[in-house]
Amino acid sequence: MKLLITGGAGFIGSNFIRYLLKKYKNYKIFNLDKLTYCGNLDNLIDVEKNPRYKFFKGDIADKKIVEKLVKNVDVIINFAAESHVDRSILEPDSFIKTDIFGTFTLLEAAKKFKIKKFIQISTDEVYGSRKIGYFKETDPLNPSSPYSASKAGADLLTLAYFKTYNLPVLITRSTNNYGPYQYPEKIIPLFITNLLEGKKVPLYGRGLNKRDWLYVLDNCRAIDLILHKGKIGEIYNIASGYELTNLELTKIILKELNKDESWIEFVKDRPGHDFRYALDCSKIKKLGWRPIYQFKKAIKETIDWYKKNQWWWKKLKSGKFLEYYKRQYEKKE
Ligand code: NAD
Ligand code: DAU
Repeated sequence: MKLLITGGAGFIGSNFIRYLLKKYKNYKIFNLDKLTYCGNLDNLIDVEKNPRYKFFKGDIADKKIVEKLVKNVDVIINFAAESHVDRSILEPDSFIKTDIFGTFTLLEAAKKFKIKKFIQISTDEVYGSRKIGYFKETDPLNPSSPYSASKAGADLLTLAYFKTYNLPVLITRSTNNYGPYQYPEKIIPLFITNLLEGKKVPLYGRGLNKRDWLYVLDNCRAIDLILHKGKIGEIYNIASGYELTNLELTKIILKELNKDESWIEFVKDRPGHDFRYALDCSKIKKLGWRPIYQFKKAIKETIDWYKKNQWWWKKLKSGKFLEYYKRQYEKKE
């Protein structure tokens, strides 16, 4: 099988490429990535010389490079996106361009070259927030941020290409991932690396919002299953079922790094902050998937990874990142 993975130099995409190359010895992978601020070829140093892997720098919204690659592959898996909610609140433009127009460009090329499968990597955020209960794949979309609205737009376009043109699409919607190679703007790597640098951790509001934490390799296993056994035209939720408030999560990280609660800095809340995401995963469970990574063990291993790989994140937390960080967090309550 020949696959085009877009956004493969990001967090989940790079973990997925490594996972696929290891598991399937006859798969060939093209990785198309624009290398935005969070796209990072360091994420794939260990596979860059693999003869079954090839990197292409480019934009998913650029029809020329997209068509050049799509005509030579069987499957497209679209991980490429602007993915950070806070940045979408500060500067939404690139979210619309990449998440909506970029996905549209890929769908058009997939239609033109009669791709066998198109997998859109979406998110639980498209359903919006709920205090109790769990979203099913059939629930209406109710996004809150420019990020989740742009991802919802991409989902609807993807489904429209299935209904109108019979394009063989599938959609995954997962909860919050964590693990190695996550850009240190998201809560887990930001808090671990801040503490390793001797900085406080900025917790929004009172830290009572809840998230479901999915280890990135469990998500890779789920996407693998959907690639091989998923039903065309269907959406699959993916979650661990392990929910924590942000305060509970922060205390776990503090404890692992031998810090007390004085390292927490309560800062102004995120505008439109979704209280809780939670998914009903009975559909993917019927396909045969279960999460296998236990949070307590996987978070320790994740913290260890950031401790041991300071070369990876230290260079990311300088220059433009520091400007962003200042703009984002210098607003104490
Ligand atoms: P990330 O921000 O770490 O990586 C995104 C990658 O896409 C980067 O390598 C970036 O350079 C690339 N990219 C951005 N714009 C591009 C463009 N126009 N053309 C080509 N490449 C471009 O994101 P992630 O956390 O790995 O998320 C991957 C996907 O999974 C996204 O679609 C995101 O919406 C979705 N998702 C993420 C999570 C999570 O917890 N991280 C959870 C659910 C869904
Ligand atoms: O749910 C899936 C989504 O998870 C993905 O679609 C997004 O791409 C991904 O970024 C993530 O979105 P969140 O907004 O949930 O992740 P983030 O790490 O930004 O925030 C997690 C929670 O922690 C959220 O309630 C906000 C809070 N937070 C975050 C940061 C960065 C803080 O309290 N302080 C922080 O500094």
